[in-house]
Formats: sequence, C-alpha cells, structure tokens
Amino acid sequence: MKKLLLIYASYDGHSGKISRHVSQHLQSLAQVQVDVAELKDGSEEFRLENYDSVFICAPIRYGFHLSPAAVFAKRQHHRLNTMHSIFCSVCLTARKGEKGKKTSQKYITKFLDKANWRATSALSVAGALYYSKYTWYDKMMIRFIMWLTKGDTDTSQDYCYTDWKQLESFAQSWQDTILEKPLQSALIK
Ligand SMILES: Cc1cc2nc3c(=O)[nH]c(=O)nc-3n(C[C@H](O)[C@H](O)[C@H](O)COP(=O)(O)O)c2cc1C
Repeated sequence: MKKLLLIYASYDGHSGKISRHVSQHLQSLAQVQVDVAELKDGSEEFRLENYDSVFICAPIRYGFHLSPAAVFAKRQHHRLNTMHSIFCSVCLTARKGEKGKKTSQKYITKFLDKANWRATSALSVAGALYYSKYTWYDKMMIRFIMWLTKGDTDTSQDYCYTDWKQLESFAQSWQDTILEKPLQSALIK
C-alpha cells in the first residue's frame, strides 16, 4: 500500500483543516495510507524515506509563508528533491482566481527557490478570514488589505473562500498519480 504524508504549518488553523480535508478524501478513495502532522518549528523528523509522496501545506502572512514550513523545506530539500512532493500554498490572493494567479504563483516560486526545493507540483488554495480570532492589530491590517483588494471588510463575520471540491479533485489526481501515472513535473495551477 502506498504511504502519503501531509504536513502543515498554520497560524489560525485553516491550513490544518485543508490538509485534513485532503487526507479524509484520500482515505475515502482507499488504497493509500495517509499520515497528517503539524509543523511547530520545522525541526520535526518524519522519516520521509518511508513515504511515497509528501504534501507540505503553509499559509501566507504578510507576504511570507509561515516559518516552520520554510525551515522544514530548507532542511529537507535534498530528500524532498528525490521523491514525489507537493507544495500547497494557502492565501487570500488565491480567492481572486485568474486575477490573483500571478501573485499566488510568485509566492510559491519565492518559497520553493529559497528552500532549494524542486517540488513535483504546487497548488495555490484560497484560505479563510477569521476576523473573530485576530488580534486588534492583525484585524485592522487584514481588513485594510481586504478593503484595498475589494474584499470582505465586515469584521463581525468570518469568511471561508476555500473551494473544497477543488481540493477533492486534487486529492483524486494525486492518488491517480501515485498509483498509476508517471510522475508529473508540471505545476498544478
Ligand atoms: C495577519 C494576516 C496577514 C495575512 N497576509 C496575507 C498576505 O500577505 N497575502 C495573502 O494572500 N493572504 C494573507 N493572509 C491570509 C491568510 O493566508 C489566510 O487567512 C489563511 O487562511 C491563513 O491560514 P491559517 O489559518 O492556516 O493560518 C493573511 C492573514 C492574516 C490574518
């Protein structure tokens, strides 16, 4: 049975939700064993050699992916570059679809280049806005960014922009790739 590892860094919990959703969908398709774990500081050891594929998910805050994911990818890039690996970037820019694509892709390229990680594929996923959880400063900053980008500014509500169906299709194609098809080197956009 193929073994897949999903690891994520998260500040407000949404990247964990995304990783667990992909994991649950993979498990519903059977034929694979899936482990999910959180990166706290990037120093974790996961025995990557025991897995057929690894998925690393990280959100963007103030223009940068969270540091535990950056530290982990940099530390493990030699191993990651010899196996099937996927980078999943979570951000609000991705909620803009085609319009946000260039910026989302820039975030991904910057992250992968800095880590020297040649991921087999990468995807950008729209995240969530949890106004109810943020500190006053973060709430004001993100509300201002949302105002600039014509987004949701009503801080009395939370918003989720994640396309769960898109993630399920991704999980399906990941499983197909691992089980049947030759490895792909093109980015999943
Ligand atoms: C303080 C703050 C700063 C953020 N900065 C960015 C950013 O620079 N670009 C972007 O596209 N999204 C940005 N986001 C959106 C997050 O990537 C999004 O909320 C994501 O779902 C957070 O994932 P997490 O819950 O796993 O931490 C920001 C969110 C917050 C709260």
